[in-house]
Amino acid sequence: MAKNEKVVADPHACTLDKIISLCKRRGFVYQASEIYGGQAGAWDYGPLGVEFKRNIQNAWWKEMTQLHDDVVGLDSAIFQHHTTWEASGHVGHFSDPMIDCLECQARHRADKLIEDFVAANPDKAPGKPIDTMSHEEMKAYIDENIECPTCHSKNKKYTAVREFNLMFKTHQGPIADDAHLIYLRPETCQGIFTDFKSIVQSNRMKVPFGVAQVGKSFRNEIIFKNFIFRTCEFEQMEMEYFCKPGTEDETFERWRKERWAFYLKYGIPEKQLKWHHHDKLAHYAKDAYDITYNFPIGFEEIEGIHSRTDFDLSQHQEYSKKDMSYIDQEDGNKKYIPYVIETSAGLNRNFLMFLCEAYEEENVATEEGTEDYRTVLHLDPRLAPVTVAVLPLMKKGGLAEKAKEIQHLLKEDFVTDYDVSGTVGKRYRRQDEIGTPFCVTVDFDTIQETKDDGSKNDLFGTVTVRFRDSMEQERVKLSDLHTFLFNAIKNYKPVER
Ligand code: GAP
Repeated sequence: MAKNEKVVADPHACTLDKIISLCKRRGFVYQASEIYGGQAGAWDYGPLGVEFKRNIQNAWWKEMTQLHDDVVGLDSAIFQHHTTWEASGHVGHFSDPMIDCLECQARHRADKLIEDFVAANPDKAPGKPIDTMSHEEMKAYIDENIECPTCHSKNKKYTAVREFNLMFKTHQGPIADDAHLIYLRPETCQGIFTDFKSIVQSNRMKVPFGVAQVGKSFRNEIIFKNFIFRTCEFEQMEMEYFCKPGTEDETFERWRKERWAFYLKYGIPEKQLKWHHHDKLAHYAKDAYDITYNFPIGFEEIEGIHSRTDFDLSQHQEYSKKDMSYIDQEDGNKKYIPYVIETSAGLNRNFLMFLCEAYEEENVATEEGTEDYRTVLHLDPRLAPVTVAVLPLMKKGGLAEKAKEIQHLLKEDFVTDYDVSGTVGKRYRRQDEIGTPFCVTVDFDTIQETKDDGSKNDLFGTVTVRFRDSMEQERVKLSDLHTFLFNAIKNYKPVER
């Protein structure tokens, strides 16, 4: 590149703003309570969003339970006994460092303030990783370098850095005193630990084994930004794998490999993923890695893989006074508290990742040098909110009725859509934008046994299947349509971009 030549941003690149706009326009995600001006950090998943989110959750659930004989499922309560959170360390340790601007009183997460500043000014990075800085070091760095991002005051006047507990508190019943204090769970996994003995006994589980769970978690985050990336209410897909002490390192490596492979399997290219090793470990962890994805805002965490030792079970044993140990009949009835490897993925962050990865504004002009862009989501068909759209070429001539009949036949096995308004070209574009991998078009050949000249119509009883990614079309017999679609889903290959 010549000196002084400006790098021009690609106007067709994926940005978070484009994803937010598509999500709102097409019914994936809306701001919660929008009619009242919106509830900060809360989002509603619309008709397409709920299908898409459920497909991601089902893919994870299938991967973790159906495909692993040694992993079973659980759905534990959001409200756990308050002592659970004392034992887990959340009452004492689950906090973020916060700092307030003395000029405008805006509250910030001190570590994120530094992180954002360093991202924009890489030459001014502090001399050590941010997650190892003390409160005093953070305060000194912020005082010296960072203007408040809310009021932009040049004075840089801040309070000291303090810890802010992220758990939401409420009271059960009509009396709001400490005896009735209850927390909204900040992670799903504690229910797995408190149920450990019940699961072993009721299902005759033998260590090593895992327990998978998907559900809502709640954190009183100081900042929410980047759409659904960081919110107060979110869903986690967690699996706790109980293993014999001494085998935790190999088990950790096994699950790191498996979780990485999951993302490749559902179409995330390896170059878009990166490991982040934790320099500073959580109070329960012996080792920890995050899988990060290259979002339009940069590489950010989608899943954590944690080596949690016997911390949680030991703590629950101490606080509950109930024996949490396991008797290993395959090892001379040795008694021990199992070690735990955790895989903890954010469902909402997976949602955002799969959308960002799938998004393309593709020039589909047929003449060289001209431009005709379509917005397309190259989603894996197993994740796409709609699998098949059935489109009659026109409303008249019995085509609409036939298309409805075909949609009815497909409904039992696939999520379908039916669209008759506008040209077929426009309808294809609408389906491309929501990631529908297959459109089935019903035309006069589908319903006419003979041609106008009275000769036999060889295309009678067939439909056109149009593929989202290649935009190619294939004529398929109605009697073969189910099998054809099943095979197309099974043999789907992500487009290389
Ligand atoms: N049980 C371990 C645990 O909760 P974590 O790293 O705090 O670990 C795991 O959270 C995952 O949950 C993260 O990788 C992220 O995907 C998701 N997550 C955490 N906080 C979130 C938030 N405020 N909004 C959306 N997702 C969040």
